Amino acid sequence: MQLTQKEKSLLQDQLHHEEVCIQKYQSYAQQTQDPKLQQLFNDYASQEQQHHNTINQLLGNPNQQPSGQQASPKQQNKLQPQGMQNQQLDALLCNDMLMTEKYVSNAYDTTIFEAASPQVRQQLQHIQQEEQQHGEGIFNYMQDNGMYQPQ
Ligand SMILES: [Fe+2]
Ligand SMILES: [Fe+2]
Repeated sequence: MQLTQKEKSLLQDQLHHEEVCIQKYQSYAQQTQDPKLQQLFNDYASQEQQHHNTINQLLGNPNQQPSGQQASPKQQNKLQPQGMQNQQLDALLCNDMLMTEKYVSNAYDTTIFEAASPQVRQQLQHIQQEEQQHGEGIFNYMQDNGMYQPQ
């Protein structure tokens, strides 16, 4: 597919955002002690992987694993400061992902408005809808667990 320079450059940015989302969700799934949250993060990590594949296809890149995915987050990347309760850590992880999803969804908005091809536009709209569902899933988890109570 022939892309405009602007599409290419914005899609490259989105590709990078998806890589960060994959890495964060995978790493956070290892850090939480709650199996429900772990499941949620793992599900979203694989959806982010699909987004990454879709954007690679739009860019005409051969599909490959995102760089750095093999890096094991294990001990050294743990966010948990000493003495932090499990639920405090979970709230921190959720807040970070909520902010991340909000940012990524906004970035898709810009990319969609700049998309010259209807095919690109349509696929990005589908991805953006899933980003908003990720935000909703995290929001609901936080509400169910008393981490977030909008007035
Ligand atoms: Fe995504
Ligand atoms: Fe997402």
